[in-house]
Amino acid sequence: MVMNTFETITHSAQETQELGKRISRSLKKGSIVALFGELGAGKTTIIQGIGWGLGLPQKTYINSPSFVLLKQYAGKFPIYHFDLYRLKDFEELKEIGYPDFFHNSGVVLIEWAERIEKYLEKCIRIEMKYLNLEKREIKVFH
Ligand SMILES: Nc1ncnc2c1ncn2[C@@H]1O[C@H](COP(=O)(O)OP(=O)(O)OP(=O)(O)O)[C@@H](O)[C@H]1O
Ligand SMILES: [Mg+2]
Repeated sequence: MVMNTFETITHSAQETQELGKRISRSLKKGSIVALFGELGAGKTTIIQGIGWGLGLPQKTYINSPSFVLLKQYAGKFPIYHFDLYRLKDFEELKEIGYPDFFHNSGVVLIEWAERIEKYLEKCIRIEMKYLNLEKREIKVFH
C-alpha cells in the first residue's frame, strides 16, 4: 500500500494503534520511521500498532523502557526500536552501531527523533501532538 503525506486526528489509543498497523504495510527492510512529539504524544502507542502490523504477536506490547536506547523485536523481519529520550549525543548512538548495522537488515523505529534530527537520512516522519486526554493530531510525511 502506498501512503503519502497526510494529517489526521485519532480519538483513542486503539485508533492510533490501528493507524500504526496501516502505516506498517508500506514498510520494508531498510525503512526508517522517525517519530516526533512530546511525552505522552502517543509515539509508543503508534509503534505498538506498527509492530503488530509487522507480525508481532498481539500479546507483545512494545514499550519505552527508561535507560534503554534500543530494543529489538522479531517480526517478519527485525524491528529496531530506539527511544532517544535520554540520548546524550549522536556519538553514543554510533557506539551501538547506528546507522550502519541496522539499516537494511530490518525496520528502524525512532522515538524522540528530535534528538538526532540533523543526522536523519531518508525516513518516514510522524509528528504527533497531544490535543486532549484522548485526542492526538498525527501528521505523516512519507
Ligand atoms: N488518541 C490517542 N493516541 C495515542 N495515545 C493515546 C490516545 N488517547 C490516549 N492515549 C494514551 O496516551 C498515552 C500515550 O503514551 P505513549 O507512551 O504512547 O506516548 P509517547 O509519545 O511514547 O511518550 P514518551 O515520550 O514518554 O515515550 C497512552 O497512555 C495512551 O493510552
Ligand atoms: Mg514512548
